[in-house]
Amino acid sequence: MKETITLHLDPNHFDSNELKQAAQFIRENKTVIFPTETVYGLGANALSDEAVSKIFEAKGRPQDNPLIVHVSSIEMLESLILNPLDDKSKKLINAYWPGALTLVLKHSDKVPNSVCANLDTVGIRMPDHPIALKLIELAGVPIAAPSANLSGKPSPTEAEHVLSDMMHRVDLIITASKSRIGLESTVLDMSTEIPTLLRPGGVTVSQIESIIGPIKIDDAIHKTVEKPKSPGMKYTHYAPNAPLTIYKGTRENMIHAIQKEVNQSNLNGLRCAVITCDENYDQYLDTLRISLGSIKKPDELASNLFESLRECDKNNVDIIFAEAFDESDIGLALMNRLKKAAGFKIITV
Ligand code: TXA
Ligand code: MG
Repeated sequence: MKETITLHLDPNHFDSNELKQAAQFIRENKTVIFPTETVYGLGANALSDEAVSKIFEAKGRPQDNPLIVHVSSIEMLESLILNPLDDKSKKLINAYWPGALTLVLKHSDKVPNSVCANLDTVGIRMPDHPIALKLIELAGVPIAAPSANLSGKPSPTEAEHVLSDMMHRVDLIITASKSRIGLESTVLDMSTEIPTLLRPGGVTVSQIESIIGPIKIDDAIHKTVEKPKSPGMKYTHYAPNAPLTIYKGTRENMIHAIQKEVNQSNLNGLRCAVITCDENYDQYLDTLRISLGSIKKPDELASNLFESLRECDKNNVDIIFAEAFDESDIGLALMNRLKKAAGFKIITV
């Protein structure tokens, strides 16, 4: 079994000396889990094939899924890309970096094939988290990092998630507080004529369009497609152990349909869970109920989704029913992850 060092830091009061060993580990091509504002990342030196292969091994992740490279400065970004930054990318970087926006750009020959899964592009972002930024800066190299979950599990948003998934699989784990956004970054392909949204996330479509005008939305966001442009879209990600079905309709219809399924499942001896909101929580009986928060606070709903899926696993439920949520702004990312967890099984009622 691998020895894993753990380090707990307060993002607002840590000394950069405390990150020295972690930075040294990155330079030695070891694996380090670190907090970001979206979800925890499983990092390694993005310039080393050897280091990157350890990420795939630790996650049990298919090698054809490219990784996001995290940078702490614009100079670091420029060393990774083939062409000078285009105007739209510059504007987006000015508006939203550091932040939850990953830009897909043509890469330079510094980026190993293992990072970009042999594509001619690479996804890059600057995380908005003091620990992540300091770690990259001290390491002096960009850090490739997918979400720090075992492949197929919901992305980790709390210290306890990374500890339970990754203990003895990586060299060092840095824990901090709960991830502020709780869903992964937005992935925007800047290498196409019109920028294309490959994955909705922390930075919303309207935030992007307010800076660079209309963008395209990739089909894979709403349904399963055979050959998605973002290879990560083809896997059943974020899946809890039990099958999940989403119910979409008016509040009354949704509650009625879900309660009916709960009653039937109970008769069949199945343990149920219902993913709901504060406003509807009291409406369900004879089932485990998990509220994502108030529908008046969509950011809160988003930040609690992955935790709720893990909660279902912890309670060993057999079947999960979820309410559909509003899909505007951060709701697009929330519903995208929920739909993926459901394998796109949605019932309109
Ligand atoms: O918020 C996040 O982005 C987190 C934190 C740790 O930064 N990272 C993350 O990484 O979610 P990962 O590896 O779990 O997801 C990367 C996504 C995948 O859907 C992948 O297919 C897509 O980005 N991606 C990466 N590079 C790409 C490329 N060159 N072209 C198209 N899609 C790419
Ligand atoms: Mg992931």
